[in-house]
Amino acid sequence: MKSVKIKSPATVANLVCGFDVLGMCLHEPYDEMEIRLLSERKVVIESTDGYPLPKDPALNTAGAPLLEILKATDEEIGFDVRIKKNIKPGSGLGSSAASASGVVVAANHLLGNRFSKEEMVQFAMFGEKVASGVKHADNVAPGIYGGITLIRCIFPLDIVSISSPPLFVTVVHPQIEVKTSDARQILRKEVLLKDAIRQWGNIAGLVTGFLKEDYDLIGRSLEDIIIEPVRSILIPGFDRVKTQCKEAGALGGGISGSGPSLFMLSKDEKTARTVEGIMKETYDQLGLDYYTYVTTLNQQGCSLINQHQHEVL
Ligand code: HSE
Repeated sequence: MKSVKIKSPATVANLVCGFDVLGMCLHEPYDEMEIRLLSERKVVIESTDGYPLPKDPALNTAGAPLLEILKATDEEIGFDVRIKKNIKPGSGLGSSAASASGVVVAANHLLGNRFSKEEMVQFAMFGEKVASGVKHADNVAPGIYGGITLIRCIFPLDIVSISSPPLFVTVVHPQIEVKTSDARQILRKEVLLKDAIRQWGNIAGLVTGFLKEDYDLIGRSLEDIIIEPVRSILIPGFDRVKTQCKEAGALGGGISGSGPSLFMLSKDEKTARTVEGIMKETYDQLGLDYYTYVTTLNQQGCSLINQHQHEVL
């Protein structure tokens, strides 16, 4: 049977001010998966990483999108998925999205590339629904399109790719788990008009900063007065990391997705490494285990590891 191997990268949702509407794709970390086409209508999920994720495809972030793909065809096909997750669930680095978008891109390849990127995002959002109870696309869209994406609208889906100047991204993942569903639950359901005005000014400023390659404007716009004040309470060391990294020359940053990972953007690698040092020192002093990554924007998104379909078993 035909099979493909795929790399499905981490993504940073929200980009500070753009809750549920902005996201970017990173080179590291990434999940690895192998998807095999079956000749009967079923989805089989196997994980090789030891995370206790549901095996029932309807409850699994990789399984749910594949079940939707089966609904879209009456062919006698199915999928067997082996996942090695390197992006820890509950990290804020788009772990569920990596599973969902990776399998959709792989399945599309196995089916002769019959779906558009937008259709693939539609399928992948079923995985996000399983993970957080809500269909948001700010991780799966950058995972499938690559680069930075704006989700202008979910219903109907309207995704815009945003170009940007070169950016280095430093990420620290303190080893605590924050479930996206919990991190959404604690948010206020209403915002004041004056806060909304400031927030949409920042979103417009950030997008314009990316497009005009204006680093100062990007830095000024990385401000979130609605979500961050609520969620940052869950993340030890947040204020210190943010303040010290900006003093060291980072453009700015904040919570990655729903946390607990934090990310900072820098113009050059030297600053990105200094920022990594500040993050390490902070969490060493707090006595909290962590991982750090110094990486760059991934313009490709999910990518096949071997381009040639091959025989297995
Ligand atoms: N926009 C989503 C949230 C992203 O912040 O809840 C979750 O990765």
